[in-house]
Order: sequence, then structure tokens, then C-alpha cells
Amino acid sequence: MGTRLVGLGKALPKLEIENDALQALVDTNDEWIFQRTGIRSRHVAVSESTLELACDAAALALGSAASASDGESAWCEEPIDPASIDLVICATLSADTLIPSAAASIKRVLGLENAVAFDLNAACSGFIYGLSVADSMLAASCALPEGAAKQTMRRALVVGVDRLSRILDWQDRSTCVLFGDGAGAAVVEWDAEAPGIIATCLKTIDDTKNTLTCASIFASNTPFDEQGKLLGDAEDPSYATLCESLEVEPELMKSTVHMAGQSVFRFASRALCSGIEAVLEQSGLTIDDIALIVPHQANERIIRYAAKRLDLDMDRFLVSLAHTGNTSAASVPIALAEAYASGKIKKGDKIIAVAFGAGLTYGALLFEA
Ligand code: COA
Repeated sequence: MGTRLVGLGKALPKLEIENDALQALVDTNDEWIFQRTGIRSRHVAVSESTLELACDAAALALGSAASASDGESAWCEEPIDPASIDLVICATLSADTLIPSAAASIKRVLGLENAVAFDLNAACSGFIYGLSVADSMLAASCALPEGAAKQTMRRALVVGVDRLSRILDWQDRSTCVLFGDGAGAAVVEWDAEAPGIIATCLKTIDDTKNTLTCASIFASNTPFDEQGKLLGDAEDPSYATLCESLEVEPELMKSTVHMAGQSVFRFASRALCSGIEAVLEQSGLTIDDIALIVPHQANERIIRYAAKRLDLDMDRFLVSLAHTGNTSAASVPIALAEAYASGKIKKGDKIIAVAFGAGLTYGALLFEA
């Protein structure tokens, strides 16, 4: 018995920006970007909100919307009754609104009348964290004795969505070429017969060198000084205090993504290996039992590096970032939706999904499809 994936969907904004188009913004070129990352283009949400992308992906995962003509955006065992969704978790760091949460808005828009909904931020590992939390909640609920006075949950919608184009510094060539916008969603349900999710590993490592940061909108604008006196237009003292308590240099407290690329690269390639090794060890399975590894799609070179360290051929890994770039929390569910829809993942296959991101976070899941 376990939590099993029964539906997947993805949604990308209409506008696709090729590498060459970025030359108008920063000193870069297609050759550099492709060789260093494997990325050719990314989608940028101009007219689409985070909520719209999330709802499009979720509707496909629920089987309540027709898949796009490429046939690779959705897979669903059978259409799911919206009223049967007990839980919505939305992994995102770029929701349109702080309140209501993106998950609460998804619930409202899709008419998931019985669901409890909340957001979760674990950056690019968010979908793995979200699926793991959903798995724990379904497992705990399904272990309850008959008649227990606790809320029961059988079916969950987990969405990974990000629209990082809004928080990128488009003058910073070391970050703006890497990311894209998008959404991916999965419906999971408790299955008394099938193993579903077999092993999970979540880790958070202290980012002591502030290698990946982006300030929140709370960074300034408190109307009081420390004695409670009302401030005029003077500089906000809470900003300096905040930087001090977070141990972050003020110049890193910009509300755009700051990244120390090489440090993140080293962390990321180690995290991929550690996540894969952890779920294999927990499950008692070996790499030969695994049909496909679906890693976070940040940079093809990170995946190659991990493959080399694990002594695995690259064809054991799904690489699908060429036309999406790094879509943050959406990356793993987009890749999974494509792999299920195209038949790369078949029923009974054992799969590892693994991701890493700011925090620093990483996580992996081993499941049977
Ligand atoms: N176009 C052209 N040149 C660029 C460039 C760009 N977009 N970005 C950086 N460069 C330049 C640098 O300025 C540097 O020039 P210099 O040698 O004259 O100083 C040179 O290219 C090499 O830069 P470096 O940072 O050493 O490149 P790299 O091989 O480490 O690749 C990243 C840079 C960002 C692609 C790589 O470090 C990376 O992928 N890191 C992890 C990022 C990531 O996955 N983040 C998300 C985690 S969820």
C-alpha cells in the first residue's frame, strides 16, 4: 500500500524566448548558454499569472481539460471527481498573492470543494517536498482506526509552479539565462494494493555563504523605529537589523535572485547523488531496479556530473530542459508529465525523482508508477 500517482499535467506560458534573444539584454550568446547548460529556450509568462499556469496544469492532471496537441502535457488514468480531492499543496516561491495562498486560489478556481489547501516553499525542491508531505498526510490518515475523530484524506493535488521571470535581474547574465516559467501538477491517491511511494529523503543544508538568495517584500518599510516612534520618510532601520539577523550583506537583499553559480553547481551535483543514494538505501533496491531517474532540470551539466559520480549512463536520466530552462518548483512535475505522456514511464516502473534548490534544500522520492 502507498501513495500512487494517478494524474499529471504541465503548463508553459505562450511566449518562448530563444537564447539569441537574450543578447539584446546581456552580453551572452546561444553557444555559451547551450554548452554550459543544455538550454536553448525558456518560456516567459507575460499575460499568464502564476495561478493560471497552476490551474492549467492541475486541470490536465485531474483529466478535466483536453491535453495540448503535442500530446505530451498530460497523463491521467481516468478523469477525477474534483470533490474527491481532500488536499491541495502548492509548492511555489512566486505566488501572485501572499494571501490568499496559491493553493487556496487553485482550490477555488477548480471547484475542489472538499480540499484543505496551503502553500509550501522549498524553492526548486518544492514539488518533492510537497509530494512527500502529501504522502505523509495520506499515510497517517489511512492508518487511522475506523471511526477515529480525525480528518481523513485519500486523494491530493500537488502543484509545483513558479514564475521566476518576475524576480530575475534581467541585467545579470549569470542568472537570467537559466530560468523559465511554468507549472506542473500531480494527483496522488492512497492505494491499498500498490506500493506507490516507497522511499523519501528530504534534507536542508545551511546556506552559510548565501549562495542563493532573494529578499522578500518584507525587507523594508516598517513605519516605526526601534523605540516605537513613527518614522517620517527617513531610512527604515529595520532593514539593517534584518540583514544583520539574517547574516546577509545588504547588497544581497535585493528582491531579485542572486546566485553564486559555481558553489550552487557543486552543491547541486552532490545533492543529486546523495538523494538518489539515500532512497536506494532506504528501499533496499539497487540502481538496476530503477527504470528512470527524473532529476530537477536546472543544468544538463549538473546531471552529467552526477551521472559520472554514480557511474551511470546518461540515458538512465531524463533530460528535458532544452526548451524550458530551470522552471524551479515546476521542473520535476513537468518532466514527469512529459515522461508519463510519452510512454517513457510505464506502469510498474520504479522511478526516482530528485531535486535541489535554495535553502539549501534537496530531496528524492522512489516510487512505483
Ligand atoms: N553568457 C556568457 N558568458 C557568461 C554568462 C553568460 N550568460 N554567464 C557567465 N558568463 C561568463 C562569466 O562571467 C565568466 O567569465 P570570465 O571567465 O571572463 O570571468 C565565464 O562565463 C565562466 O563563468 P562561470 O561562472 O565559471 O561558468 P560556469 O561554467 O560555472 O557556468 C553556471 C555558470 C551558472 C551555468 C553554472 O555555474 C551553474 O549552472 N551553476 C548552478 C546554477 C543552478 O543550477 N542554479 C539553480 C539551482 S536550483
